[in-house]
Amino acid sequence: MRYLSKTTAADKLATQCLILGVFEGRQAGESLNSLSTDTLTALKSVLKKRDLNGKCGQTLMLYDVPGIRAERVLLVGLGKKKNLSPKSLASAMEKAITQLNDGATRDCAFLLPPEFADKSEIYAATRDTVLAAEAQLYLFDQCKSQKDHPLHPLNKMTLISGSRAGASTVKKALSHAQAIAGGMTLAKNLANLPGNICTPSYLANQAKKLGTGNAKLKVSALGEKQMEKLGMGALLSVSKGSREPAKLIVMEYRGASASSRPVVLVGKGLTFDAGGISIKPSANMDEMKYDMCGGASVIGTLKACAELELPMNVVGIVPSSENLPDGAANKPGDIVTSMAGLTIEILNTDAEGRLILCDALTYAERFKPAAVVDVATLTGACVVALGHHTTGLLANDDKLADELLRAGDAINDPCWRLPMNDDYNRQLDSNFADMANIGGKGAGTITAACFLGRFTEKYKWAHLDIAGTAWKSGDKGATGRPVPMLMQLLLARCKLAE
Ligand code: BES
Ligand code: MN
Ligand code: ZN
Repeated sequence: MRYLSKTTAADKLATQCLILGVFEGRQAGESLNSLSTDTLTALKSVLKKRDLNGKCGQTLMLYDVPGIRAERVLLVGLGKKKNLSPKSLASAMEKAITQLNDGATRDCAFLLPPEFADKSEIYAATRDTVLAAEAQLYLFDQCKSQKDHPLHPLNKMTLISGSRAGASTVKKALSHAQAIAGGMTLAKNLANLPGNICTPSYLANQAKKLGTGNAKLKVSALGEKQMEKLGMGALLSVSKGSREPAKLIVMEYRGASASSRPVVLVGKGLTFDAGGISIKPSANMDEMKYDMCGGASVIGTLKACAELELPMNVVGIVPSSENLPDGAANKPGDIVTSMAGLTIEILNTDAEGRLILCDALTYAERFKPAAVVDVATLTGACVVALGHHTTGLLANDDKLADELLRAGDAINDPCWRLPMNDDYNRQLDSNFADMANIGGKGAGTITAACFLGRFTEKYKWAHLDIAGTAWKSGDKGATGRPVPMLMQLLLARCKLAE
């Protein structure tokens, strides 16, 4: 969808549909004050009829409203006035957008509630409205032969603000939000594709496409021979059981001088996780096509960075492989040597994410990172701990952890920190190698992070376990998380977020 920022008076704007907010208890709110008396009288008489109470997300479509250029007016309930927030506004707008997309309108205008007075509120309200709209309009039908598109898809939205200053904040928020939404859409598309299409090579080629024609974004992918030379024995051991060659995708975005240390994002790109010889139960195993969501979110985030031309350096690393049972696959008890030289006893071949990530995390050292954040659908235990609303966060640096907590809260993509210490770390002790790849009973998310922590001692590091937040079970598909959190972190580091 296209978005515009304007200060035109709401009644003078030529649009197919003007969206106006109404608070619970049929309270008009300040938006209506900018309309002519004719319009106001008409709207007040409609409200008196009580079809719309103003509960968050309720809608009422009106035609032939006097004194206004818009062909229609869509009243949208914004909930209780005292509870108005960018988040509540966005959830109300979701409903409005869906209704308009299914109807005959292609363009609409939305009068931002003047109750949002300061810059940061206007910024967040605009951004969250766009993210909500793009989430509603998202459609994944790449694999359907018959496309079922809406007859008159909504394709333009004008956001009206009361002042020039407001309009320029809206403009900035629009550009940020559109880039974030674009990154999320790419992440969702890659994730929703099945494992037979979205293979490690496919993922690498899609990442490379982003680099073509963009001087600031360099994308390459290491093949198995190159990884062998680097000694990536842990990563390659996972891919041994698969006929698809593994890839290490490397995306380098240069938005600042070469001497400026990059933020390195590492994403698990496991394109299908059957568990290997420690095979998973067959129920819902199809959902393990989403085991590359961390990688997809890193690719999506780099796309957004490039689009916004962020004034910083960002590197994305995506180790990508399948995990399948096969005669050549890892067996329980096998011992492999990682790129860092540490040996790992593989007691469960289904704990493969950490095996591909540990070599990618060692590879990250060469970029002299300011910070490293890895993103992975790493443990079922994280879903038990935090459910589907909150991403797991573990870190070896308190400041970096706080930055991520704040970024997630600011953009409605929250995470919650879990502890890491030596007691948990000892759960990984092995009789036969430097460590085992599983930590036994209890604290599965923490011991997985402790495993990664043994490979990240040389830099500031945080780990995001997105096992519960990367997709919605059933036919709902990938969420695009945590692209918003990562982008908010990077925008804040560039001092660009409001
Ligand atoms: N990709 C899975 C984790 C996962 C499971 C994510 C379910 C989302 C939903 C990971 O590779 C895995 O299999 N982890 C094991 C680790 C265990 C063997 C220590 C798990 O969580 O069961
Ligand atoms: Mn697994
Ligand atoms: Zn996995």
